[in-house]
Formats: sequence, C-alpha cells, structure tokens
Amino acid sequence: MKHESFPLLIHNGRIIDPGQNIDQVGDLLVADHKIVRVGGSVTADQAKKLDATGLVVCPGFIDLHCHLREPGFEDKETIATGTKAAAIGGFTTVCCMPNTDPPLDNRARVDWVKAKASREGVVHVLPIGCVTKGRKGEEISPMAELAEAGVVGFSDDGEPVSNLQVMRCALECSHRLGLPIIDHCEDKELSRGGIINEGRVSARLGLKGIPAASEEIMVARDLAVAKLIGARIHIVHVSTCGSVELIRQAKEKGILVTAEVTPHHLTLTEELAYANAKVNPPLRTEDDIKCLIVGLKEGVIDAIATDHAPHTLKDKKCYLELAAFGISGFETALGCVMSLVHNGEIDLSTLISKLSCEPAKIIGKSELGTLKAGSPANITIFDPNREWVVNSSSFASKGKNTPFEGYQFKGKVMVTIVDGRIAYRDESLSSHVMKSLFLIGEDVGEGDERSEESHHD
Ligand code: DOR
Ligand code: ZN
Repeated sequence: MKHESFPLLIHNGRIIDPGQNIDQVGDLLVADHKIVRVGGSVTADQAKKLDATGLVVCPGFIDLHCHLREPGFEDKETIATGTKAAAIGGFTTVCCMPNTDPPLDNRARVDWVKAKASREGVVHVLPIGCVTKGRKGEEISPMAELAEAGVVGFSDDGEPVSNLQVMRCALECSHRLGLPIIDHCEDKELSRGGIINEGRVSARLGLKGIPAASEEIMVARDLAVAKLIGARIHIVHVSTCGSVELIRQAKEKGILVTAEVTPHHLTLTEELAYANAKVNPPLRTEDDIKCLIVGLKEGVIDAIATDHAPHTLKDKKCYLELAAFGISGFETALGCVMSLVHNGEIDLSTLISKLSCEPAKIIGKSELGTLKAGSPANITIFDPNREWVVNSSSFASKGKNTPFEGYQFKGKVMVTIVDGRIAYRDESLSSHVMKSLFLIGEDVGEGDERSEESHHD
C-alpha cells in the first residue's frame, strides 16, 4: 500500500493539458499521489506551495523510445542514471528498448528490469519486449509471455525485422495480444555500411550513405503487412519526407499506424557529419525536416520520442566509420523542440500533446498523460523562456554523446513530479521552494510523511 505523499499546491502556473483542451493560468493541487484539483484559485493551508508564476504546468512527458542499457551495457547507462536524466528532461514515464545484453526476450528479463526500475528508477519505466528471440530476426519471441510480464509493445529496435514471414507472424501475434509492433524500419541491403545520409554531404566527404529509400521501403512493406492483418504498428524515428507521405496515406486508408519523430531529426541536418551526430536513421536534409514538422502538426506523426541512446566516450571517440550510432537525448529534448515553438513552427499546446497525451494513447495508458483530477500526479513544470547552454559534462546520463554541446536553448524543465513526488527540481529554484520539495531518495525531514516505499506499482 502507498503512504501519503505530501499535499503540494502548484500556484499560478500556465496549466496546459491538451487532452482536456485546457490552457489557463491557475492552481493545481496534488495530494496522496494524485491530482486533486486543476485550475482556478485553490487554497490548501496544509500544502507545500510551489510558485509556478511564469512557468508551464503540463502532463508529465512520456518517452516512447529510449535505451537504458541495463542489463549488459552499464558502462553506457544504468536504470539509475538513465531515469535521473529522464527526470531532468521532464519525462515521468519512459519506455525502454530491449536491445540489452541479454536482450529482453523472455519474462524473467522483463521482470528483472521492472524490479530494478522500481528500486533504482526515479520515473516510471515500461519495458518493450523483443519481436524475435535474441533479436536475431529468425524466430518470434514468446510474445504472449512478454505481454503477461507487462511489456507495452514489441521491437527489435537497432535492427529491423528483415524476414517478411517473421514480421507477418509477429504482427499476427501482437494483434491478438492487443499490443503494437514498434517498428525500426531499415532495409539492410541498402543501408549496410552506411554512416550518414546518402546525399550531397556523403558524396562530398566520400562517406558511404544510408539512402532515404532504405527507411521508406521498410515503412511501405510493413504498412502493407499491417493492412493485411489489421494489426497495429508504431513506426519509430521517422526521418524522411517519403516516410511521412506513406504514413499519411496509410492513415487515410484506415491502417492502424502511429509514428514518432526525434528532436534531433526535427532540427539537425546531414551537414553535421561527426561522431556525436552519428545516429541511425541518419540526420537528413532541410526538406525532410520541413516534412517532419508538417507531419507532426497535421497529426501524421503522433509523438516526439527521444531515442535516447547513450554511449561511452570510447564508443564515439574513434573514426567516424567505427563510431556507434546514437545520441544521448533526454536532457536536451525539451530545449531542442522548444526552438520550434519559439520559431513559430508549432504551437505550445500541440508540442505538449506530442510529448504527453499522444504517446500515452499509443501505449494504452492515457492516465499517465493527463492532468485530470483523480489521475496519478505525473506533472512536468517548465520555463518556456529560460535560456541555458548545453554542457554534457553536467548530464546525469552517462552518455555525453550529444550534437548539441554548447548550444543555447530556450526552454528548461524546472520540476518533474512522478506520482506526486519530486523526481527532479532545478537548482535555480528559490531556496525556500527547494527546502519544501523533497527529492525522491533524499533524507526525509522531521515531520515529513513522505513514503520511503517505491512509487512504482
Ligand atoms: O542511433 C541509434 N542508436 N539508432 C538505433 O536504432 C539504436 C540506437 C542504439 O541502441 O544505440
Ligand atoms: Zn531504431
């Protein structure tokens, strides 16, 4: 049973909850791990007070796609460091990919991650199970068993499911289980050996490219199979114009597809041909970025997901050809995508929906992405105008691999609340506020009834 969490009054913030069409200045009261009242002026004498004047108060962010690296790659990241970084980024729930060592392809391994996350994590961790045993693409994993263990979907992310028969089987099975295939779309025949986008820059530098077609062929293939079976697929890290068009047409035809885009694919291009910008799929072109933004605005792309992919310095500090693919993305996500809001390319409420209620729907957990009274208190509070400079040496993530080093961003997470408890607070908050907000895992002050128990179910 859960103990009481202290009542918390979030005062005078700009409350934005796109799922309820709320955008108003007011108060929000949290008690007993839940949201009690939203909007208007609330008095609560017993409550600790957080002055949110000038800040946005919104549903906690949900990341559909990250790599926490445990078990097996603890030198890159752990559940403890990864979830801390997630909280700094405003994420209250993260879905972690199963490309660990060993991979999450049976119940015991999923249980292990869940247990470790409930002990050491500061945000909700929802594992994704493998599509195929060992991620080898040959034989489907025990998907029913994984579903029972509570996975939110199936993915061999990092690798595509190249064999079409295997993909068909997997879609039939996931369809019966009511879970999505979370699809990394890449045709290896076209992409193998590629380092950056195939185009102007790869030609200039003499680097082997990864063509847009490598992604689009797989998107087209899997949409066709999803249609055949009537199954649901979620396409991860969409990076090209062509993919956006394919998904748009598929949605028009009623195919059950959803899609996500990363902050880096929305803002960076192939011109950045260096190790910390090396990512799979690769950064593409200005035209692709335009299509991705339009797709996001028009609802072709449902969610923004980080694909947080931490690596060690050694993995990245080598020849570009040998460097690992991936960007450490939790801590820069909001700052990065807020540039789209400040440039007038997307409105704030739409952006928040792509980070909260939309991803919540995709994993069938709407209660995690809403500020509705009675819902668990997963809340992100951010300053849309605070300017800060990215400095990877201060990341909580072990992965310092960011292409945004030294960038000045405008928009910063100030407080992240997970089930009514403070998972992160920015150190610049006034000392008065700081004192009243106990962090998860921090020593409990006298008279504080905060639970020492895990906040996870
Ligand atoms: O850049 C990437 N890194 N893309 C993937 O698909 C996998 C990921 C990783 O695991 O590092
Ligand atoms: Zn991937």
